Amino acid sequence: MPLVTSTEMFKKAYDGGYAIGAFNVNNMEIVQGITEACQEQKAPVILQVSKGARAYANHTYLIKMVEAAVIECPDIPIVLHLDHGPDFETCKACIDGGFTSVMIDCSSRPFDENVAETKKVVEYAHAHGVVVEAELGTLAGVEDDVQVSAEDSSYTHPEEVEEFVTRTGCDSLAIAIGTSHGAYKFTPEQCTRNEQGILVPPPLRFDVLEEVSKRLPGFPIVLHGSSSVPRQFVDKINAHGGKMPDAIGIPEDELRHAAQLSVCKINIDSDIRLAITATIREYFDEHPDHFDPRQYLKPARQAVKDMVTHKLVNVLGCNGKA
Ligand code: G3H
Ligand code: 13P
Ligand code: ZN
Repeated sequence: MPLVTSTEMFKKAYDGGYAIGAFNVNNMEIVQGITEACQEQKAPVILQVSKGARAYANHTYLIKMVEAAVIECPDIPIVLHLDHGPDFETCKACIDGGFTSVMIDCSSRPFDENVAETKKVVEYAHAHGVVVEAELGTLAGVEDDVQVSAEDSSYTHPEEVEEFVTRTGCDSLAIAIGTSHGAYKFTPEQCTRNEQGILVPPPLRFDVLEEVSKRLPGFPIVLHGSSSVPRQFVDKINAHGGKMPDAIGIPEDELRHAAQLSVCKINIDSDIRLAITATIREYFDEHPDHFDPRQYLKPARQAVKDMVTHKLVNVLGCNGKA
């Protein structure tokens, strides 16, 4: 099956009450770990590439690795998506270079500028059979070279979404309801502690999501910053020489709930990084004499696969939906 757009995937996900996983890819082991899990679970998948990934791995290498995954995983639909496209030129380069979906992220710009740049991307993308994700509202955290502090983040204003979607013609919309990028999504001060002393983050703003969905019936919503920052990875990293105090993510039950509503795409990157780093740290501690990268990248790739399998089955609910 060749690379596809997300149109059909999102329609089925919306109607079926599940979400598609959008996983960031930066190297071969990550592509393999994700797509092997999806092939085994018969899950549709979005492989997404950030500006930083293109700078790190090179556009051509990324395209060719994803094309290899398409050949190796013949039973599942795969979308190749630009994550956080900063401007029209980057989106155009990806559309011209074989991507089937792009995100134009002008969410930090004034509303009318966001509309204008998004509309320009939509016109070019649609003329080339490519779909477009846009964003309204600002997430806290780091994405590529943009760092947004918690004070500068803002929830999506539901009263803006109809005008934005109508004027731009975008195919899906990322909204801000309390998720954020990276492994430190909340400060300890924002959280409470449960009986075991584990930090519990403030709940996502499902009221905002509900209000948005009421105004955009049937329209696919996207959640960025949706890593759960699993405790077992953070503990392993800290037990093997790492230092990640108070790393905290989005509880999986909240993501599962969002997937049952209008959220059709859930973005996960930090959990991949954590799975790899935890595995390699432990490996180095246990095998100080090993120096062949294949020795430690193999379990790291397996850890990505296991983590993605868990998300597909227990969080996204998209297993068996290919
Ligand atoms: O949204 C941010 C993604 O996790 C991509 O991160 O820009 O470091 O590749 P990156
Ligand atoms: P996380 O940092 O929570 O994995 O978010 C990834 C993301 O939103 C990519 O666009
Ligand atoms: Zn993001």
